[in-house]
Amino acid sequence: MKRIKMIVLVAFVLALAFASFSQTPVARAQKALVIAFIQTGSESGWRTSFTDAMKAEATKEGIDLKFTDGQQKQEVQIAGIRAAIAQKVDAILLAPIVETGWDAVLKEAQAAKIPLIEVDRDVKVSDPALYPVTRVAADFTHEGALAASFVATAAAANPKWQTQCNIVELQGTTGSSAAVDRAAGFANVLKLFPTLKIVASQNGDFTRDGGQKAMEALIKSQNNLQDICAIWSHNDDMLLGALVALKAAGIKTGTGGILTISVDGVCYAYKALADGDFSANVVLLPSLGVQAYQAVRDVIAGKTVPKWTVMPSPMNIGAGNADKFQKYFAGGCAGYYQG
Ligand code: AHR
Repeated sequence: MKRIKMIVLVAFVLALAFASFSQTPVARAQKALVIAFIQTGSESGWRTSFTDAMKAEATKEGIDLKFTDGQQKQEVQIAGIRAAIAQKVDAILLAPIVETGWDAVLKEAQAAKIPLIEVDRDVKVSDPALYPVTRVAADFTHEGALAASFVATAAAANPKWQTQCNIVELQGTTGSSAAVDRAAGFANVLKLFPTLKIVASQNGDFTRDGGQKAMEALIKSQNNLQDICAIWSHNDDMLLGALVALKAAGIKTGTGGILTISVDGVCYAYKALADGDFSANVVLLPSLGVQAYQAVRDVIAGKTVPKWTVMPSPMNIGAGNADKFQKYFAGGCAGYYQG
């Protein structure tokens, strides 16, 4: 009997010791999710807002976010994914700079059983089985189509452009799904309007500086834009940079000038809308964190997730709304403006 009591006592002490060294079920449930976020870089105002929103949402949700700045280089992003795999994070969120070249590292993440989820841009894979578990992003093709629809409508309303509307395009990073899909969406709508035509395109890499340089080249090659009806820019920063070149050349855009449209909805785009320099703007929401982190939780919990959670893309038109945009800009553009 004494021996049995001793065994029970030892077992009890061991159990207590084990419990104090390991986590209780409550502590386990509360363990912070460790998520690696592999960002493209910081090429634009939108990108910075997106990074800030992802970090703020992670803090709010008690997520341990391991951030990698991809510095606009695919190899840096790939190294970031490999480091995250080595750290055995719970999940990886990837905003891929370009579409192709991810197969090997996606395979490695799968082999390590770490779910990889896309935020923002998309990838193209050689084998569908390698495609990320899910994607949280806007529909870039739709954004391009919205932009072209605006140009078609505005050109039709102006006797000067009704019979022929020549467009110049500022393209984002070559091979990025944001640039490829926006260009495709725009081109799809243009097919419906034979009087609308892209006469020249220049790459501005989604940056202000790139946009300015690209526009300087276009001003030279397109006879000071004398026959140009519209400027279509794959993002706001390039158009804001282009404005510097356009103003220096004395070329009026927006109200009473060449039509302009771009995508993002950064704070200075609202100033340009209010000042009459931008004609219209398609909004890309930077706040993808709530949906992205929910997707991670769902995937880890084994729930079925959609292949793509599509974020909305509202459009703002400058004409007649200058006061509203001025007020929004003066207020520091807090929150996102959705019409
Ligand atoms: O992928 C989204 C695009 O990337 C944004 O429109 C642009 O500003 C950024 O560089």
